[in-house]
Amino acid sequence: MIPFVDLKAQYRSIKGEIQTALNEVLENTAFVLGPAVAKFEEKFAAYCGVKHCVAVNSGTSALHLAMLAAGVKAGDEVIAPAMTFIATVSAIDYIGAKPVLMDVDPVSYCIDPTRIEERITKNTRAIMPVHLYGQSADMDPILDIARRHNLAVIEDAAQAHGAEYKGRRCGSLGDIAGFSFYPGKNLGAYGEGGAVVTNRDDFAKTVRMLRDWGQEKKGVHVLKAFNYRMEGFQGAVLGVKMNYIEAWTEGRRRAAAVYDRLLKDIPGVVPPRQMGYARHVYHVYGILVKNRDEVARRLQEVGIGTNVHYPNPIHLQPCYAELGRKRGDFPNAERLADEELSLPMYSELTDEQVTQVAAALGTALNA
Ligand SMILES: Cc1ncc(COP(=O)(O)O)c(C=O)c1O
Repeated sequence: MIPFVDLKAQYRSIKGEIQTALNEVLENTAFVLGPAVAKFEEKFAAYCGVKHCVAVNSGTSALHLAMLAAGVKAGDEVIAPAMTFIATVSAIDYIGAKPVLMDVDPVSYCIDPTRIEERITKNTRAIMPVHLYGQSADMDPILDIARRHNLAVIEDAAQAHGAEYKGRRCGSLGDIAGFSFYPGKNLGAYGEGGAVVTNRDDFAKTVRMLRDWGQEKKGVHVLKAFNYRMEGFQGAVLGVKMNYIEAWTEGRRRAAAVYDRLLKDIPGVVPPRQMGYARHVYHVYGILVKNRDEVARRLQEVGIGTNVHYPNPIHLQPCYAELGRKRGDFPNAERLADEELSLPMYSELTDEQVTQVAAALGTALNA
């Protein structure tokens, strides 16, 4: 059996430290925010190469607050890719702004920067690149367009902890960014969690207030806001995990390199491509295959877990019928939805297991 993800293997390797850190939260009774969260914020800001990290209760909350801090208002338009997790677009929606969807690049699978400018109108306020599967979007042209049109760049870095663009960390590239620490993410909490990171002092101050009822100081609410605070237990878990994130990322990259080597000889498989500008962190190792669902079923039969990220692009989701898009509008996003298959990927995956998956994939394709 090779599961798609194995959270237990990682937990076993850090169990003692996690229990000590959780105990400390219990002894302090610092259940909401508190010292463990503050310590984690410092570590994560340094890791991303930014001045500020504000920890919140999910990646979705992080994107929502990033959007508000960047000044996006109801009626504004925000340009986002058609292939992403639904939460990217929900965050735009929460504000009453309008998602303007675009196709993705056929090689990087991230937003295609060459098509952004034609979608800009007088209402456009921001661009929201998603570093999909753990690989950075091509940020230089996006930042250049944003500068010329006075738009904010809000990175959805939910899948991109430690990913890099030309040597700089995802999350530090635009004006502000949101991360998710959902348990299966490369840096995962033991429950829900997220963070906003930014170099902008004013944005960080706003996000800090927005996550905690808009309070400037206790009892003085200067903004209408939210309860999006991170729990102490999650800060403690994430603080421990920060000591290992680089080693775990290298583990994923090692497994990906073995997949790359083995899969290039299997006809009918399109492996992911690490772009020249990128350090890919392989949150998802996604291949493209025809007959994806049949291949997944055959792998399941021999005990290999897979997943699909994502079976429907945003423009074909029933809840976004209001955007008035149809099949054929964004062919690269649609191809991913039809053909993407996520193979097992975690840092504890051994070279032998990767070899087994590759062999089973070859057999499944030839059956
Ligand atoms: C690209 C993307 N954006 C946003 C989110 C939302 O994060 P969360 O599930 O922590 O709310 C996720 C993760 O689920 C994601 O993968």
